[in-house]
Amino acid sequence: MADDVITVLHRQHEEIRTLFAEVESAAGDERKDAWYRLVRLLSIHETAEEEIVHPAVKRVNGGTPIVDARLAEERRAKELLSTMDGIGPQAEGFDTLLVQLRDDVLAHADHEEQAEFPLLRKVHGQERLEAMASAVRTAETIAPTRPHPGVEGPIANLLTGPMLAVVDRARDMIRKVSG
Ligand SMILES: [Fe+2]
Ligand SMILES: [Fe+2]
Repeated sequence: MADDVITVLHRQHEEIRTLFAEVESAAGDERKDAWYRLVRLLSIHETAEEEIVHPAVKRVNGGTPIVDARLAEERRAKELLSTMDGIGPQAEGFDTLLVQLRDDVLAHADHEEQAEFPLLRKVHGQERLEAMASAVRTAETIAPTRPHPGVEGPIANLLTGPMLAVVDRARDMIRKVSG
């Protein structure tokens, strides 16, 4: 049986939890590396949810307020992530922001798992959920790798996402060669 969208997103939530723990416990270059992997994963994960998952839940009866609350959480997290991406993991005050980001992001993931994903499971069959997993993977290949607060809607993501992704991937490469 292929993975369904809920399994894929759950697994990514686990990866996000693990990466937060890594950033918190690592030092020096290892910490920097874990942090940049976390920024990348969070950026592509939230973009895929905004393009594929939230719109599907919005169409379910009673889904709109649940999705709107998740989008507000995503926007707040992206703003904080963007600030932290700007100052970098060596900056003074970064650790305090990291605790706040971790608490916000993990609470957000719990809300998705408890309030949002069950609605998807209720209204869609296994086949549809598996197709959505493929759509999520595709969305992630063209998603921006850096946080862009204010770009939370599926249309906004689709219009600006591929362009931002090109810019982000170029910045990632520059960051890699310049250390
Ligand atoms: Fe999310
Ligand atoms: Fe999520």
